[in-house]
Amino acid sequence: MAGKEKLFIFDTTLRDGEQSPGASMTREEKVRIAKGLEKMRVDVIEAGFPAASIGDFESVQAVARAVKDSTVCGLARAKEADIDRAGEALRDANSARIHTFLATSPIHMEHKLKMTPGQVVEQAVLAVQRARQWTDNVEFSPEDAGRSELDFLCRVIEAVIDAGATTINIPDTVGYNIPQQFGELIKNLRERVPNADKAVFSVHCHNDLGVAVANSLAAVLNGARQVECTINGLGERAGNAALEEVVMAVRTRQDVFPCDTTLDTTQIVPCSRLVSTITGFPVQPNKAIVGANAFAHESGIHQDGVLKHRDTYEIMRAQDVGWSDNRIVLGKHSGRNAFRTRLKDLAIDFESEEELNEAFARFKELADKKHEIYDEDLQALATEAAIAMEHERAKLVSLRVCSETGETPVAQVTVNVEGKELHGESEGSGPVDAAFKAIETVMHSGTQLLLYSVNNITSGTDAQGEVTVRLEKAGRIVNGQGADTDIVIASAKSYLNALNRLVTPDHRAHPQRGDV
Ligand code: KIV
Ligand code: ZN
Repeated sequence: MAGKEKLFIFDTTLRDGEQSPGASMTREEKVRIAKGLEKMRVDVIEAGFPAASIGDFESVQAVARAVKDSTVCGLARAKEADIDRAGEALRDANSARIHTFLATSPIHMEHKLKMTPGQVVEQAVLAVQRARQWTDNVEFSPEDAGRSELDFLCRVIEAVIDAGATTINIPDTVGYNIPQQFGELIKNLRERVPNADKAVFSVHCHNDLGVAVANSLAAVLNGARQVECTINGLGERAGNAALEEVVMAVRTRQDVFPCDTTLDTTQIVPCSRLVSTITGFPVQPNKAIVGANAFAHESGIHQDGVLKHRDTYEIMRAQDVGWSDNRIVLGKHSGRNAFRTRLKDLAIDFESEEELNEAFARFKELADKKHEIYDEDLQALATEAAIAMEHERAKLVSLRVCSETGETPVAQVTVNVEGKELHGESEGSGPVDAAFKAIETVMHSGTQLLLYSVNNITSGTDAQGEVTVRLEKAGRIVNGQGADTDIVIASAKSYLNALNRLVTPDHRAHPQRGDV
């Protein structure tokens, strides 16, 4: 970093990431992820859109109270009421930022906002001025900048910097840009906006054409000094630029980049796992940096090369991004203190003693079945304990499945629904199918199963299986998670978890739809 400019990392996993269908997170889950991001030394954490609902407001407030070292940011449309909501939610933050936005592309102004360009400039200025009444750290985004006219973009940006915006974020909202063009856009803006030197230029790229990271890097080479990104590239539609890829590209290619981040990159893999367990979005094995195969040298030629001299085939060290070699961290005889300390190291804090007790009881149960407990098991366990603390309408009491060669599998299930034990039974094409159908004989949910996936949390046949189920009903999509050393039980838990989430009403507003 010596002699280099700083590249700020703005993480929007908790806001844009949460806009992925099915990725919605509870307040406690958001706080857990925020603590992980803080531990990684992310500069700014966008914690949510406080005007969306009371729940979103409380989540941003909880993150603002829990995080001390990173700036906590709240998103607000360019409306007085939204901005005041964000300001209130961030009141207790050590360092707060309000991020306000308004669309500037002809298509958005005409069809979504139904506003003239002049009205857009005026409204953007008023929004920034309002935000400055709450904090002197204000970010403005001209939404759909990637399809906006350059002259108009320059006009809006100059006006909002004059009004007090300290960060100007250029979003490629629909993921339409390509790297060379996007890099030039940043260069042009920085050269043409007369007061450009009074603000940090930032970028926010979506991955619809698979080039979000490439666009972000092109922007950095052309003077952007903040990148907005998400863990595992989570986000609306095809997602946002993946934090781990941006950070490691800049760190690895210091010969090319004039700047660097101050992130602790060893927290990348733990954070990736945490987000994946909480949201139920698995990481593909060949995903750069955080995929299970990212540092695996399968082919004989590569292994030979790596053994002779590591740099023949490795451009980064696995340890530098937080890959551990599945160290056993705890076991059957580990006590409560060792358990609590290890969780603290993993940035897992429990809201209450009750939740810690719940997690410790689960740990003991797991340690009886699986003698070696790894960090990954603890992450899953904390998620399970948090799920158990949610008000669950339906809980799995017992499950019995018979599966035999040449016979049709049969499942018998007992579910506690609001205090009443109900029994169900069904055949199925396999044990998981039978278990889901047996649950349906009790729950009659009428949902459609969109996704079912199983991942082993660690390696070995005694590992816990982590199951994600995605269900849809009347246009609403939810994910459910469950973990267990028995994958049929994990599947039943995840199915019930998704059903429980579906009954909680969702009245949240989406920040990028609707009017101003
Ligand atoms: O993609 C986008 O334009 C956004 C803005 C709110 C910054 O997410
Ligand atoms: Zn976005």
